Amino acid sequence: MIRFICTKDYDDMSRKAANIIGAQIVAKPDSVLGLATGSTPIGAYARLVEGYEQGDLDFSRVTSVNLDEYRGLPHDNDQSYYYFMNYHLFSKVNIDVNNTYVPDGMIADADEACKKYDEIVKNTGGVDLQLLGMGHNGHIGFNEPSDVFVKGTNCVNLTQSTIDANARFFASKEDVPTQAYTMGIQTIMNAKKILVVVNGEGKADIVKKAFFGDITPQVPASILQLHPDVIVVGDEAAFSQIKDMI
Ligand code: GLP
Repeated sequence: MIRFICTKDYDDMSRKAANIIGAQIVAKPDSVLGLATGSTPIGAYARLVEGYEQGDLDFSRVTSVNLDEYRGLPHDNDQSYYYFMNYHLFSKVNIDVNNTYVPDGMIADADEACKKYDEIVKNTGGVDLQLLGMGHNGHIGFNEPSDVFVKGTNCVNLTQSTIDANARFFASKEDVPTQAYTMGIQTIMNAKKILVVVNGEGKADIVKKAFFGDITPQVPASILQLHPDVIVVGDEAAFSQIKDMI
């Protein structure tokens, strides 16, 4: 089941998303959070940091597993997702870094890297709340449009449109890695609750396709229609094509 929360703008979206994550931590202090990167969740992370600073949120017993990582980027590369998480959240709250997991982009053997990450996710005991952004082509994590829904952690070849979209974070398009390790669709679907954040007019088209279109691996996020507990928090622009349907 999918519930939609329409918010005024990016700030409003970020606050409401952070409230949902914060409530999860308050209700279950040893929650396992599935975390996401990309520009969309940055505001929510900033709000969570504020919640921690104000003494409302305690991350000391939280475990986190991130969705994905570029293959070949070390932790200290400022474009790696490990670096992103550390910068936006881990270094700013009292989470135990030993309980934070991001796929290791430096394991060259893809099979080994994927197997290892599946083990890690399994050993957490299961994700309580999975935060997701969504790519313009409907990708979740880095699960790109494909002929099948890949179940477990996998090594993906990024599509040109994803490389183009993510180039804004790199010095040049040539610097964007062409491959990534990502949690699989089944792993994402195994989360007890899923929170999707989307903002901006640029996502309006894919929001409609993903949540009201056919369920197809060509739009990976469309599988979320089959999950029992999904909340999509989006701003008015991202919801502009579905406002009469929600
Ligand atoms: C990247 C990440 C995704 C993210 C997507 C959207 O490709 N791998 O997890 O959801 O981008 O990014 P943005 O939030 O910047 O639009």
